[in-house]
Amino acid sequence: MLTNLAVRDIETLVHPYTNLATHREVGPLVLERGRGVFVYDTAGKDYIEGMAGLWCTSLGYSNQELAEVAYEQLKKLPFTHLFSGRSHDPAIELAEKLKEIAPVPISKVFYGASGSDANDTQVKLVWYMNNALGRPKKKKIISRLKGYHGVTVASASLTGLPANHTDFDLPLPGILHTSCPHHYRFAQPGESELDFSARLAAELDEMIQREGPDTVAAFIAEPVMGAGGAVTPPEGYFEAINAVLAKYDILFIADEVITGFGRTGEMFGTTTYKMKADTLSCAKALTSAYFPLSAVLINEPVYEVLVDQSKKIGTFGHGNTYAGHPVGCAVAVKTLEIYQRDRIIEHVRKVAPKFLQRLTRLAEHPLVGEARGVGLIGGIELVKDKASKAQFEAKKGVALKSTSFAQEEGLILRALGGDRVAFCPPLVISEAEIDELFDRYERALAKTLDWVKAEGLLAG
Ligand SMILES: Cc1ncc(COP(=O)(O)O)c(C=O)c1O
Repeated sequence: MLTNLAVRDIETLVHPYTNLATHREVGPLVLERGRGVFVYDTAGKDYIEGMAGLWCTSLGYSNQELAEVAYEQLKKLPFTHLFSGRSHDPAIELAEKLKEIAPVPISKVFYGASGSDANDTQVKLVWYMNNALGRPKKKKIISRLKGYHGVTVASASLTGLPANHTDFDLPLPGILHTSCPHHYRFAQPGESELDFSARLAAELDEMIQREGPDTVAAFIAEPVMGAGGAVTPPEGYFEAINAVLAKYDILFIADEVITGFGRTGEMFGTTTYKMKADTLSCAKALTSAYFPLSAVLINEPVYEVLVDQSKKIGTFGHGNTYAGHPVGCAVAVKTLEIYQRDRIIEHVRKVAPKFLQRLTRLAEHPLVGEARGVGLIGGIELVKDKASKAQFEAKKGVALKSTSFAQEEGLILRALGGDRVAFCPPLVISEAEIDELFDRYERALAKTLDWVKAEGLLAG
């Protein structure tokens, strides 16, 4: 029975990333408030936010300091932009802080309002820079199948997922996708993680050779693939990729939108996986999602090209109204201060063993083929047959069913393609709450197994 709010939702909203036809029947989950790692619906039922919203509410749901700093900034200077050389204190302070904590040498910061627009900026900078350098052919950008970089036209092109391309007339020409580094699903029988990594690096090398190294400008990767399945890279992967990129003078863009600010147990995933990145995209946990803000971090060589271009053609013609919004920057400065003051990364390292132990224990369940993670992010894959790794028919939606049983049990998780389920709780989660999260999911899995059997999905 749909509530009044649910009916009004159905009649008024187009929901992002939602099956719009099914939504008309099942309606929304309407959330009203949050506290710590819990959110509450309009009937007062509690849920552990096992996805930190969309991999973003790192400090949980009731941080008074973030609310207060936003309110103070709203009262003092609710808006000013950064166009035409205008500036404000929070933007400058945040940029200084980001340069200080960046995992690779960074010269300057360019703000946006979302992870997607940050990655669009990355694409435009690559094109602009290579024109400026007199290399107009060096424009292609290589991303990975199942990589996720957003939904705007260029970012959705970088994304390597069919739902973001089908009938949207994407990807744009000049954006290529190399193999997905998911060892469990794509390694050959008996292939070690190191051998798999070496094979994927060789495939990338071949792709660059085939396209012509003088036409390939950049490579983009998330340290841990998020929307593509919460997939951690195989051993030796980024070391092997670094070596290929270095051979051909290809810029390495690290998409740290999910992994930035402690998620992997280091401040950046780039450090965890020894990625030799040149530029970074950040968003989400930059403000603990208390305000939309993204940042592109560029190195000195890229910045020098931009300045030289201005000497030649004048205005750097890029940027949007809300880029570097003073409220967002003030919230981000406070968020970074809290990460440091409350030793959030140390906390992640302290609780991660419990998280990973409970995550990997799920692999004992008859439906779970793989369970793997790093820090406080993990993914599992539900399969029909563990020995052969045979998958359920995609349209049966087994992972999705398990997350709807999880919702019944008071746990919010996200089902991703290939019957994967992602786990990505707020970084402030306690060990007891980690236990509660997995207790709730284990009950959901038990219900999923009953359902799978009742539907006869294990046969054949
Ligand atoms: C790795 C990565 N990059 C980019 C994005 C796009 O960010 P946004 O949804 O803020 O546009 C996301 C969103 O989940 C992401 O996970």
